[in-house]
Amino acid sequence: QADTPAAKPGAGDKISRVGVIGAGQMGAGIAEVCARAHVDVLVFEQTRELAAAGRARILRSLDRGVSSGKITEREREQAAWRLRFTSDLGDFADRQLVVEAVVEEEKVKTEVFRELDQIVTDPKAVLASNTSSIPIMKLGMATKNSSRVVGMHFFNPVPVLPLVELVTTLMTSSDVSERAEAFARDVLGKQVVRSADRSGFVVNALLVPYLLSAIRMVESGFATVEDIDKAIVLGLAHPMGPLALSDLVGLDTIKAIADSMYEEFKEPLYSPPPLLLRMVEAGRLGKKAGHGFYQYP
Ligand code: CAA
Ligand code: NAD
Repeated sequence: QADTPAAKPGAGDKISRVGVIGAGQMGAGIAEVCARAHVDVLVFEQTRELAAAGRARILRSLDRGVSSGKITEREREQAAWRLRFTSDLGDFADRQLVVEAVVEEEKVKTEVFRELDQIVTDPKAVLASNTSSIPIMKLGMATKNSSRVVGMHFFNPVPVLPLVELVTTLMTSSDVSERAEAFARDVLGKQVVRSADRSGFVVNALLVPYLLSAIRMVESGFATVEDIDKAIVLGLAHPMGPLALSDLVGLDTIKAIADSMYEEFKEPLYSPPPLLLRMVEAGRLGKKAGHGFYQYP
C-alpha cells in the first residue's frame, strides 16, 4: 500500500496536513497519534537538538506500540515517514490544522498564535491549543481571526488515553469546532467531550485541586509520598497515585495550571503550595527531569 497521507474519506472534512508546535511530552504524543492515523505531520521545535530529541521520543513510543502489539512494524515505519520537523514556523503555511503544545505560559502561547495567524493563510484552517488551563479566548485574541481558534486538550500519554476536551470560545465558529471534533473522533479515534472556556476545563478543574491536596498532605507530614500513592491505587483502583501522576504531568506544568486556575477563580484550593514552588525552583520537575517526588532512571 502506498504511503499516502490521506485520512479516512470524508472524516474531519479531509484534514490531512497537520502541524504540531512543540515536541515535548504532549507535542510528541499528538504528532505520533496523527502520524499513526495516516496524516502528514509537520512538527516545530525551537532548535535542531530539541527536534532530534522530539523525534527520538516519538520513535521510542512507536517501538513501545510495536512491543505491546498495538501496531505492526510496518505501521511504525509508515508513521515515522509521515513525520517531518522544522525550526521555521513559516513552513506551516499549508497546514489545515495546527495544534500548539508549547510550555504552559500565556506569553509564549499568545506569541505562537500571533505568528501562526499570519503564516497560515487558509481562512478555513483550524488553529488549536493543547493548553491545560489557559482560557482559549486569550489565545484567540492574539489573532486577527479568532473564529478559527479552538481548544483541543489531549491527555498524557496521548497514544494511550482516549479523551480530547474540545473547548470553544465566544468567537469560535461552529464550522471550526465541528471540523476539530470530527478530526479528533473520526481520524484519531478519540472520544470528545465539550467544555466551556473556563480555566482548567472539565478534567483539570477536578484533577488539579486533588493533586495539590496530595502535595499539601506530603508538605504537612500527614502521610508519606509512597503511602498516599499506595492508598489511592489500592483504595480507589486508580492506575497511579497523585504524586506519581504529578511527576508524570510535570511539576512545572502543575504549577502553571494552578496559577491560571487561581487567577481565574481566586479559589484557595487552586493556589500552588510552597512545596510545589520549591520543587519547581529546584528543577525537580518530575519524570521528564529524572527527579520529582520519585527518582527516574
Ligand atoms: N503506544 C501504544 N500503546 C501504549 C504505549 C504506546 N506508546 N505505551 C503504553 N501503551 C499501552 C500498553 O500496551 C498497555 O495496553 P494494555 O492495557 O492494552 O496492555 C497500556 O498502554 C498501559 O501501558 P503499560 O502496561 O506499559 O504501563 P502501565 O500499566 O504502567 O500504565 C499509564 C502506564 C498508561 C501511564 C497508566 O499508569 C495511566 O493511565 N496512568 C494515569 C495517567 C493519567 O491520568 N493521565 C492524565 C494526566 S492529566 C492530563 O493529561 C491533562 C493535563 O492537562 C495535565
Ligand atoms: P514539555 O515540558 O514536555 O514540553 C514543552 C514544549 O514547549 C517543548 O516542545 C519546548 O521546546 C517548548 N517550549 C518551551 N519554551 C518555549 C518557548 N519559549 N517558545 C517555544 N516553545 C517553547 O511540556 P508538555 O507536558 O508537553 O506540555 C505542553 C503543553 O501541553 C502545555 O500547555 C501543557 O499544559 C499541556 N498539557 C500537558 C499535559 C501533561 O500531562 N504534561 C497534558 C495535557 C496538556
